[in-house]
Amino acid sequence: MRSLDLHTVPATVGETPELMKAIVIRKEREGDPITSMQLEEVPVPELGPNEVLVLVMAAGVNFNGVWAAQGKPVSVFRMHKEPFHIAGSDASGIVWKIGKEVRRWKVGDEVVIHCNQSCGQCPECNGLDPMACSEQKIWGYETSWGSFAQFTKVQAQQLVQKPKQLSWEDAASYGLTYFTAYRMLVGRAEVKPGDNVLVWGAAGGLGIFALQICRILGANPIAVVSSPDKYDMVKSLGATGVINRKDFDFSWTENETPERTKKRMDETKRLGAELRKLTGGKDPDVVFEHVGQETFPASVFLCKRFGKIVICGATSGFNLTFDVRYLWMRQKEILGSHFANAYQAERANELVINGKIKPVLDQVFDFPDTPKAHQLMKENKHKGKLGIRIQAPLP
Ligand SMILES: NC(=O)c1ccc[n+]([C@@H]2O[C@H](COP(=O)([O-])OP(=O)(O)OC[C@H]3O[C@@H](n4cnc5c(N)ncnc54)[C@H](OP(=O)(O)O)[C@@H]3O)[C@@H](O)[C@H]2O)c1
Repeated sequence: MRSLDLHTVPATVGETPELMKAIVIRKEREGDPITSMQLEEVPVPELGPNEVLVLVMAAGVNFNGVWAAQGKPVSVFRMHKEPFHIAGSDASGIVWKIGKEVRRWKVGDEVVIHCNQSCGQCPECNGLDPMACSEQKIWGYETSWGSFAQFTKVQAQQLVQKPKQLSWEDAASYGLTYFTAYRMLVGRAEVKPGDNVLVWGAAGGLGIFALQICRILGANPIAVVSSPDKYDMVKSLGATGVINRKDFDFSWTENETPERTKKRMDETKRLGAELRKLTGGKDPDVVFEHVGQETFPASVFLCKRFGKIVICGATSGFNLTFDVRYLWMRQKEILGSHFANAYQAERANELVINGKIKPVLDQVFDFPDTPKAHQLMKENKHKGKLGIRIQAPLP
């Protein structure tokens, strides 16, 4: 059988064609998503004993798809041995086939996929945290067979229940960024009621969930965004104050002159004064970081004495330069954080099932427009999350 038509679910659940449509990245065309990602037909993958084949109803767009397309900062072909790369680390779908060792899921179950893969056998997986496994990988970035295809192959432990009240597109939009923000704030920074939390990129994929998590925890999230058209959205998600970063010239730049450094520090202090107006005179207990190079010096400076900077990414560059005196003399902590383990994903997903956390899907694209959606994200022309409709019916 050739590949399925898009937006259809075969009547016989489990009947699998030989080929599937997929958005494919190849080494020789790494570059802008708009040219690097192309629609092709490839074989449906074979399953191992603990793996599951999922019919992908919808997928979610993340920044790692931009990186995979570009081949920068690292080519995905250095991370796995497959001849091509199918990106995509978020999906909702229907369990279509199961490996012979799979017990917790059955064919026909409606699921959301979390993106952490690990060996499942080492002491770290079984006692410490699967995120500490030496074989830990992000599905659809460090592995191929991601979600921008009609079928995807995942480990059985990657599945969580699809919240029944959500559309396929909404259900595919939250896993990666929400579960990451959950681990950062709940697991790593241990945010407490009353904490002031500075949230960079508050209208972006991580930020929209950081705000909602802070609200549930009884903390006060202060949102940073780059334009007034994002104010209403971040306030509706729980921001107790909003700052437009474009009003302050605080960003770190390469090869700064002493004059530029002084100007940057003056502007950072002015940003701090604005922040304190929004918190009743307090510095942030926690800074939610993922921008990296341009904001990190400000994050370290602005954080309260004994406060925490929790970081999971570096959109603006990963070589960080900052004045470490503000860290040691004021006894602040920097916490690295990366995605989440299956238990955290499950607990976080319960809050979506209970309606306490809501996805924020800004736009849905049809499957062939997957490259266009990534291009928008690369150019920072989006708010919230972007979705891709694959087998889900057209509206
Ligand atoms: N380690 C992990 O597990 C993990 C998981 C998820 C994401 N990440 C990483 O975290 C980063 C953010 O992901 P995301 O999904 O939230 O991306 P996103 O949807 O693009 O949101 C990021 C936000 O950051 C802000 N921003 C961009 N450039 C900035 C700059 N130079 N200075 C200040 N703010 C800037 C933008 O908001 P404004 O323009 O409104 O300020 C943007 O909306 C990415 O690098 C991603 O790869 C890591």
